[in-house]
Amino acid sequence: MLLPITFFIFTSLPFFTWPSVAVDTIAPNQALTDNGETLVSSGERFELGFFSPPNSSNRYVGIWFNNVPQQTPVWVANKNNPITDSSGVLSITATGNIIINNNRTNSIVWSSNSSSTTASNPVLQLLDSGNLVVKNVGGNDNSGNYLWQSFDHPCDTLIPGMKLGWNLGTGQEWYITSWKSLQDPSSGDYTYRLDPHGLPQLVLRQGYSTVEYRSGPWDGVRFGGGPELGQNPVFSPIFVFNASYVYYSFENNVDSTISRFVLNQSSLLQHLTWNQGRGEWVDIITLQGDNCDTYALCGPYGICNINYTPDCECPDGFTPRLPQDWNGLDWSGGCVPKTQLNCSTPEPGGFRKFSRLKLPDTSNFLVDATATSPEECEAACLRNCSCVAYAKTEASGCVVWFGELLDIREYNEGGQDLFIRMAASELGSNNNAKRTAVIASVSVVSGVLLLGLISYCIIRKRTAWWRGAQRLENPNQENNQSAEDEDLELPLFDLVTITTATTNFSFTNKIGEGGFGPVYWGKLSTGQEIAVKRLSKDSGQGLKEFKNEIVLIAKLQHRNLVRLLGCYIHGEERMLIYEYMPNKSLELFIFNQIRGTSLHWQKRFDIIVGIARGLLYLHRDSRLRIIHRDLKASNILLDSEMNPKISDFGLARTFGGDQHEASTNRIMGTYGYMSPEYAIDGIFSVKSDVFSFGVLVLEIVSGKKNRGFYHPDHDLNLLGHAWKLWNEGNPMKLMDAYMENPVPTSQLLRCIQLGLLCVQQRPEDRPTMSSVLVMLDSENPMLPQPKQPGFYSERFLVDTESSSTGKKPQTSNELTVTMLHGR
Ligand SMILES: *[C@@H]1O[C@H](CO)[C@@H](O)[C@H](O)[C@H]1NC(C)=O
Ligand SMILES: *[C@@H]1O[C@H](CO)[C@@H](O)[C@H](O)[C@H]1NC(C)=O
Ligand SMILES: *[C@@H]1O[C@H](CO)[C@@H](O)[C@H](O)[C@H]1NC(C)=O
Ligand SMILES: *[C@@H]1O[C@H](CO)[C@@H](O)[C@H](O)[C@H]1NC(C)=O
Ligand SMILES: *[C@@H]1O[C@H](CO)[C@@H](O)[C@H](O)[C@H]1NC(C)=O
Ligand SMILES: *[C@@H]1O[C@H](CO)[C@@H](O)[C@H](O)[C@H]1NC(C)=O
Ligand SMILES: *[C@@H]1O[C@H](CO)[C@@H](O)[C@H](O)[C@H]1NC(C)=O
Repeated sequence: MLLPITFFIFTSLPFFTWPSVAVDTIAPNQALTDNGETLVSSGERFELGFFSPPNSSNRYVGIWFNNVPQQTPVWVANKNNPITDSSGVLSITATGNIIINNNRTNSIVWSSNSSSTTASNPVLQLLDSGNLVVKNVGGNDNSGNYLWQSFDHPCDTLIPGMKLGWNLGTGQEWYITSWKSLQDPSSGDYTYRLDPHGLPQLVLRQGYSTVEYRSGPWDGVRFGGGPELGQNPVFSPIFVFNASYVYYSFENNVDSTISRFVLNQSSLLQHLTWNQGRGEWVDIITLQGDNCDTYALCGPYGICNINYTPDCECPDGFTPRLPQDWNGLDWSGGCVPKTQLNCSTPEPGGFRKFSRLKLPDTSNFLVDATATSPEECEAACLRNCSCVAYAKTEASGCVVWFGELLDIREYNEGGQDLFIRMAASELGSNNNAKRTAVIASVSVVSGVLLLGLISYCIIRKRTAWWRGAQRLENPNQENNQSAEDEDLELPLFDLVTITTATTNFSFTNKIGEGGFGPVYWGKLSTGQEIAVKRLSKDSGQGLKEFKNEIVLIAKLQHRNLVRLLGCYIHGEERMLIYEYMPNKSLELFIFNQIRGTSLHWQKRFDIIVGIARGLLYLHRDSRLRIIHRDLKASNILLDSEMNPKISDFGLARTFGGDQHEASTNRIMGTYGYMSPEYAIDGIFSVKSDVFSFGVLVLEIVSGKKNRGFYHPDHDLNLLGHAWKLWNEGNPMKLMDAYMENPVPTSQLLRCIQLGLLCVQQRPEDRPTMSSVLVMLDSENPMLPQPKQPGFYSERFLVDTESSSTGKKPQTSNELTVTMLHGR
């Protein structure tokens, strides 16, 4: 059927082809050949032509953005059937079928299958929207009734005008499928599709059945009620849900914006926008923002909240089904009601309200649009004893759930209300109230000596930052500062310079969200690139931490520490201006399969040495002794040559010359990097930084996060796993599977041993940073045998008695300490 037509065209019609002229239509007597130059161009925005993905010689017909220098295909025609040389020819038949022919083998590589009897004078046209359409010349073009359109056949990308969902009338579905790899656009493992049953929601699956993530139901404003995909300065989400259509789409707020929504080959769902100034794609939204977005992480009835430690909790009235697994951070068993509902009683239970939730998933829920009031909805649920929960949504009316509730998460703001059913006896008791972060009960040393040391430390610090602060708040005094006021030799930036550099803190200049506020990229008029950390007014970083950070950092000069260029303080508004690190943080590399492969062993080793040098400088060589307290992969920034620089001194503490440890009742740090004596007793010293450094070394070697490490054979975390492999004589098994092979074995082994030495349970067993550097630098050092690591099996803190700080408290009083962690 196809062949005779093609044969006819290829033999009988003289093709007209263009060398490098941009046109926007192809008629049946024309063709687009792969001579490397020809393109079809729609106005200004999109181009269609033959291309090869990076590092691939395969040729594909695709559509990409015209004014994005880094070729970014949004649609690929023959994605599953590449042409291996440049003999491809794109044309359209007289019946409106688009074909890509291999002119060497004279075979059809791809066909749109859009032959139509209604075709009369069809042409292929690339519209300004990026939509490639087949339409009848002279036909009613703008009605959207095309014979065929690429927007109906999405690949991995949505651009404005494309849809994700269903035409309920025709049963046609639009969904996106990931590429196999950066080099290979053929259909990969992941799909993101709209599930139209019950409450419409978007679901990311691996293969046909494994759910990886779901958006949560549409609530009328956004999906799942969470912050993702809500209103933002770049684009507006569109959701249509009526009798004919249910789909998600978006439009750019400003017409000239270039933005796209893409399902990455590594299953990441991101909305990106092109930043002209920086010449790169900036992700404004990553849907799977954190752990809690992992589908059903907390099991049936479990509630995930990223601010809890650990992330999962059972709702009030429920208790872990398998307490032992639950405490071992395997939450898949979920929760069960403390008291089973008894349906033979006249009044089978009631409801407890839970707020700010992403509504649960379940294979079995009913939507009852007729129940309009909450009372009706509650009554509807009470009528059937298998009903476990209900919610009243703006978009869909009353929803009732049957079966287990899965994948509930709690947000800090936004979200929806869910009413979970439970036995009346559970409702009566009011001792439920609190579900807070894990509170660790901690005994604190209150020896007189130690108290003295602490107040010394505090007073010292106060005066230091206070002097600095005064100068900062009165910039006019800058000229008559006294010589003794050497705390701050730091340029004060003015607001105009900063706003100009960051294009008025434009959303597309935002490069990250630090623990204490957003970070923006900017370019000074001198051409220097900067990173501006703008502290949010309600950030946890009070004036105290801010000044602490300035005073500390201003004095530090080392090639492995990120350099502070200046700051800005005016009233509530506070900003820190740093040198810009183009490669962002180490975390983005070592825990990412794709970027991880680019990090060769030698580079990893250099990074380890660099961090060690920076840390040694902090501990010993700088004028102050500084404990960083929050060393972690995301705080190691990488410059253009991948040199590591330690950043984020918001929690750092200075020490007096002869002071060796201190204690705090405000334990702040990051879970997974905190040493036992610090996490449990609040005691920190250079050795707690050494512990974090050891964790970091093992993470760099293994490419695995300590926190959240999972191994099918045991319950150990990464430290325990490394320790186990070490004792079994298999330490090389720890090596990142994505690292090149072979690597210098002795050097790698030395790093593993060193990492284990640094994470030993007792602080006094851990080496100092200067011995760490000696061990790293010498060829064949004699390293001691590591002893048992701290926190190697406990995946989270349970009791305090097991701690061993090497000291017995003289008098101890119970103090409640909230574990906070800066993510
Ligand atoms: C392409 O290959 C070169 C050399 O192997 C490598 O340096 C580069 O990173 C690769 N590019 C991509 C996008 O994979
Ligand atoms: C296909 O190849 C033939 C012979 O190799 C050549 O004459 C013809 O021009 C080619 N067609 C196109 C459209 O390039
Ligand atoms: C066109 O039809 C053929 C044969 O049914 C099929 O293999 C091919 O995938 C179809 N092409 C498209 C773009 O759907
Ligand atoms: C459904 O929504 C679409 C898009 O807004 C609209 O074009 C269509 O007419 C609507 N259909 C019905 C039945 O309301
Ligand atoms: C997918 O993610 C990787 C790493 O995050 C990135 O390098 C790549 O450009 C992304 N791919 C697409 C198609 O956006
Ligand atoms: C349920 O309640 C009925 C009536 O009060 C009682 O007879 C029965 O034993 C209860 N069942 C359970 C499992 O508690
Ligand atoms: C309760 O709901 C379930 C699920 O929809 C249904 O199978 C069952 O028949 C209902 N029971 C009653 C008594 O209505």
